[in-house]
Amino acid sequence: METIIKKIDRNNIQEEDFKEASDIINKGGLVAFPTETVYGLGADALNEQAAARIYAAKGRPSDNPLIVHIADIAALNELASDVPDIAYELADAFWPGPLTIILNKSGLVPKGTTGGLETVAIRMPSDKIAAALIKYSNKYIAAPSANTSGRPSTTKAEHVIEDLDGKIDMIIDGGASDIGLESTIVDLTGEFPVILRPGYITKDELEAVVGYVEYDKAVLNREANTNIVAKAPGMKYRHYAPKAELFIVEGSMEDTIECINKNVKEKEMLGFKTGVIATDETKNMYHGGIVKSLGSRNNELSITSALFDILREFDTIEARYIYTESFDGLEHGQAVMNRLLKAAGYHIINA
Ligand code: TXA
Ligand code: MG
Repeated sequence: METIIKKIDRNNIQEEDFKEASDIINKGGLVAFPTETVYGLGADALNEQAAARIYAAKGRPSDNPLIVHIADIAALNELASDVPDIAYELADAFWPGPLTIILNKSGLVPKGTTGGLETVAIRMPSDKIAAALIKYSNKYIAAPSANTSGRPSTTKAEHVIEDLDGKIDMIIDGGASDIGLESTIVDLTGEFPVILRPGYITKDELEAVVGYVEYDKAVLNREANTNIVAKAPGMKYRHYAPKAELFIVEGSMEDTIECINKNVKEKEMLGFKTGVIATDETKNMYHGGIVKSLGSRNNELSITSALFDILREFDTIEARYIYTESFDGLEHGQAVMNRLLKAAGYHIINA
């Protein structure tokens, strides 16, 4: 199929710009659109056939549930049942924004959207284009990240074109996503809120609103072969995998740089194209390899927003090995390291 690429200016949102996209959504088609986290691949959340098309286009396992995107808090009572007070407290504090909550689903939501589960994931995005698409199509929009299953999530329309051109009806190009990492997911169906996926909204920020919050064990895992089963079905699959072999180097900054320089030299002597993921503070201290800076450790948004883009750039230049600094020390370190650990298949080198 021919994929329509539609540029929309987020600073000048006009209803008529969304006419074609809304028609596609209402007919059960697929529209990729920007959000503040990553691009989403959207379809009518209450139409099971439309949801099935999402799985087909991404090559996504059918037991991996979709997030339902809303534009109005009133949707909570329609899509979910037994909504606890903390859901409204979190919504008040963080919506619209990069937070997804898991609740028991209502009868309205088909299991084709929830991967067969009795629970539903709900998020109200802050991105103006995402909000306008939901509003003007007058639908709840189910949307996973708009990437081929297993590849890094997409943070620019160009990435979506790489993965999904010819497989979906439309791609709305609204420029780069601000945050660049997927939303924080919190399960509210148990005794305490549980973080199933760390994101830009941190545990501390959640706890400031609702008190005690736990991490799902799978979030804290740092080893490849464990018996820990992730509560979010999607977290069990290999994710974000770059074509190169990726290694995370841990230690003091001085030791890290020395260790990366040594490893890069060895690989290059053997003739392998080798990359380094650095920061503005360190990029001039590497003596070999293709060095890319994520941004400054003093501007964490620069780092989160560049991560998937840089993993994809290394794919394009066909790097064989990549060494990255660790980002544990950041306020958003949990979110960044969660993606890096998966991308690296948990390969960590102690400098
Ligand atoms: O920022 C985001 O969340 C982006 C944008 C587009 O909104 N979406 C996104 O969707 O990252 P996706 O499908 O790539 O990741 C959703 C994650 C998966 O790991 C899935 O298993 C989990 O959420 N999930 C969805 N519904 C769930 C449920 N009912 N219970 C547990 N986990 C759920
Ligand atoms: Mg995804």
